[in-house]
Formats: sequence, C-alpha cells, structure tokens
Amino acid sequence: MNHEHAPGARPAASGAKLVEQVHALLAAPRPWPVVQVGDPVLRGIAAPYDGQLPDALLRDLLDAMFRHLPGVGVGIAAPQLGIPLALAVIEDPADVPPEIAAERQRAPQPPLELVNPVLTPLGSRYHAFHEACLSVEGFTAVVARHAQVRLSALDGGGRPYELELSGWPARIAQHETDHLGGVLYLDRAEPRSLSTIANHERFWTPRPRPAP
Ligand code: CO
Repeated sequence: MNHEHAPGARPAASGAKLVEQVHALLAAPRPWPVVQVGDPVLRGIAAPYDGQLPDALLRDLLDAMFRHLPGVGVGIAAPQLGIPLALAVIEDPADVPPEIAAERQRAPQPPLELVNPVLTPLGSRYHAFHEACLSVEGFTAVVARHAQVRLSALDGGGRPYELELSGWPARIAQHETDHLGGVLYLDRAEPRSLSTIANHERFWTPRPRPAP
C-alpha cells in the first residue's frame, strides 16, 4: 500500500495545460475512451471553473460531452475524460419500459450543463437503486441517494441557475457532482449488491412470467 499520493493533493493544472488537454481530447477519435477507476484523476478534487478555457473551447467541450452520451450513459463529468475541471453534463431520454420508469421515478431530463455545481439535499428521504458508472465499466451496485436535491450551478455561458430535482434526475446530478469531488458511486454503494451488469441482467432483473 502506498499512501504517498493523497487524493486531491495534486496542484491544479494551469490554464495553458488545460487548453492543450481539451484541444487534444476534441481532436481524439470517437468514441472517447473514458478514464477507468484507479486513475488518480478520478480521485482528485476538480478545480472550480473560473475561465481556464476560452469561451468557445468550453462550449465545444460541453457539446462534445453531450455527444458522447447517447447509447452510453446519462451523464459524464470532465475528470472522466481526464480534464480536472468542475464541469459535467447530464441528459436522460428515459428510454426505458414504463414500469421501470415509474419505479425509479425516471422522468426524461433535458440537457443540463453543470459548471461548479453545488447540491443541497431537500428533505430526509433516500431512494436506493442500482447504479453504474462509465468509469467502472461492466459493474453495477445499489446506492442510496437523496430523493430530492437543489442544484445550484452555472450553465456553459456562465449564467447561474437553481433547480429542484427529484427521482432519477436527482440521482444523476448527485452521481456527476460526486465525480467532481473525487467520489465514485462505489464509495457509497452497498458492497454485497456489487454485480457485473451481465450477471445483474441474468439473475436479478425481473422478467415477465412466461404464459402458462
Ligand atoms: Co460516473
């Protein structure tokens, strides 16, 4: 065990270095490989965004992050692409069977840009459901999340906004905001619920009973 590198202990990358990193990312072939668990960038505290990137480059980065999502996930945070800035995007078409959507309170979430997001829990209710992460490929586990939160953040144009989120969108916002603080869903998960996604589907996903 080596505890020499404490999480969050790295100096924040300079603006010039970040600009270079984002240009390299945007030029990289798609789909982008997502940084996997074990890479220290996922355990650092992302630097608050304060104009380290030119406006147009930030816009291009956020747009590209949205383009990464369809068919892959419902949110991604910049550290998962190796960029240690407090930026994330979420978008969920909630393209799931109606009974699953109802059980998980999974209403469609239109595209949302989270720049320097801060979450405040509303009420004391928690919901526990299986969750997965693009940075922990192939696994899923149960995580209890606040049922309702207030999200305060900036959009990509620097405009502050506040939103109350509940159900699945509240879960996504908590998951992505955690990434910016170096926290992975596994840290909050019920350990005995850990499963490969394949085994979760094979053994634990209810199916309609066959007709008699
Ligand atoms: Co994740």
